[in-house]
Amino acid sequence: MQIKDIYDKYLIEEIKKVEFLARVRTHRQGKVVSFLVLNDGTTLNDVQVVYKPEVKGYSEIQNARVSSVVKVWGELVLTPDKPQPFEIQANEVALLDEAAEDYPLQKKEHSPEFLREIAHLRVRTKTFQSIFRLRSSLAYAIHKFFQEQNYVYVNAPIITGNDAEGAGEAFLVTTRTDGNHEEDFFGKKASLSVSGQLHAEAYAQAFNKIYTFGPTFRAEESNTSRHAAEFWMIEPEIAFIDLAKNLEIIENMIKFVINYVFENNKAELEFCDANLEEGLINKLTNAKDSKFVTNTYEQAIEILQKAVEQGKEFENKNIKFGMDLGSEHERYICEEVYKSPVFIINYPKDIKAFYMKLNDDNITVAASDLLVPGIGELVGGSQREDDFGKLKKRCLEMNVNINELDWYNNLRNYGYYKSAGFGLGFERLVMYITGASNIRDVISFPRTPKNLLF
Ligand code: 4AD
Ligand code: MG
Repeated sequence: MQIKDIYDKYLIEEIKKVEFLARVRTHRQGKVVSFLVLNDGTTLNDVQVVYKPEVKGYSEIQNARVSSVVKVWGELVLTPDKPQPFEIQANEVALLDEAAEDYPLQKKEHSPEFLREIAHLRVRTKTFQSIFRLRSSLAYAIHKFFQEQNYVYVNAPIITGNDAEGAGEAFLVTTRTDGNHEEDFFGKKASLSVSGQLHAEAYAQAFNKIYTFGPTFRAEESNTSRHAAEFWMIEPEIAFIDLAKNLEIIENMIKFVINYVFENNKAELEFCDANLEEGLINKLTNAKDSKFVTNTYEQAIEILQKAVEQGKEFENKNIKFGMDLGSEHERYICEEVYKSPVFIINYPKDIKAFYMKLNDDNITVAASDLLVPGIGELVGGSQREDDFGKLKKRCLEMNVNINELDWYNNLRNYGYYKSAGFGLGFERLVMYITGASNIRDVISFPRTPKNLLF
């Protein structure tokens, strides 16, 4: 038996006899009765076991330390007058493996920083059990959303010969120390993928609707609570659609995954609401039940300028058309102005990637970022430039290596018509759904600047 089975069935099947293996969370000994609080990881719920000196195995389990693994045989007794719905009165107990005295997760509050240093153990705490079970459900919900609508799941390559965003922040892949890439493994410079989008576009032209969901690497030095050097990205790409449809898909997807975890992870969400972000469930309920706001970049600039006039203290108060929005600006718009997820569309071309479709004004591109409270940018997407000549011109203007991208640009010559898609940072989604405030706490073993433990 597992503890989840007991919780799922004890009311329906009137379980009396139980037998299970679990880990000790707390152990309180008394002369007449002793109490073990056990958890086996299958559910957030613990089980309280009561045992007396006359049970079989008493002498061996008597001093069982926190984190030891034990086996219990006993009777389930309902306890309507206590906080837990039932307890187990043990007939027999066995100590299967004793934990050492220096187990670092003894019963007290630990700081997130300390827990990051023991990332191999922190996942046994209720906080991390909630976060990582939600992460698992969210991954499943994302696949479910796309698979149910006939999208094809594509695995884009991880080693690439180009830097998709043209931002020059990729990790080099090499077997040499001399930097001679002509003699290197691939006979040229190679790097870890910063995005699967370019390959995704090729597949969208074949299957119409596709998505990738895989590891992504960025060597940005930004040491923030929302950037990791290794993270997971979901990149859907859809042929024949424009920007408006792209926004609709993003909104539907986010609402779908919120509904999925509401139906399947109530206990974890309640734990996160109580321990990570007060009002989390309210925030998510509002997001799933209301229409996301859409503003143009120009409108966003006007909002920010007005805020500065009214005395809002931004670190960067020099708000003008053409600037890149900082995270303080993004968060002001979605947290303080709208208190809701907000799409910002039609950014100036100079602050966006070369592949975004140029609008008729020749100044802005058909970009669509989604900003959410607590995080800022959750999604970055766009309609793609479908005109071969314009795309090539943008490559040249932005110093993108045109030879490496010949195959990509050439897609436009073989019946491309339209295409749009987006990239959703999976860890940022997990942060938004769990209320965790640091990306280091939603990825199992985080990789960030100057940090490669485990
Ligand atoms: O906005 P980005 O850079 O967009 C792209 O990569 C496009 N190729 C997507 C597309 O249109 N197919 O990244 C997409 C998202 C961001 O909105 C953010 O959520 C996440 O990826 N992201 C990161 N997450 C964690 N750590 C980092 N260093 C991240 N960089 C981007
Ligand atoms: Mg972006």
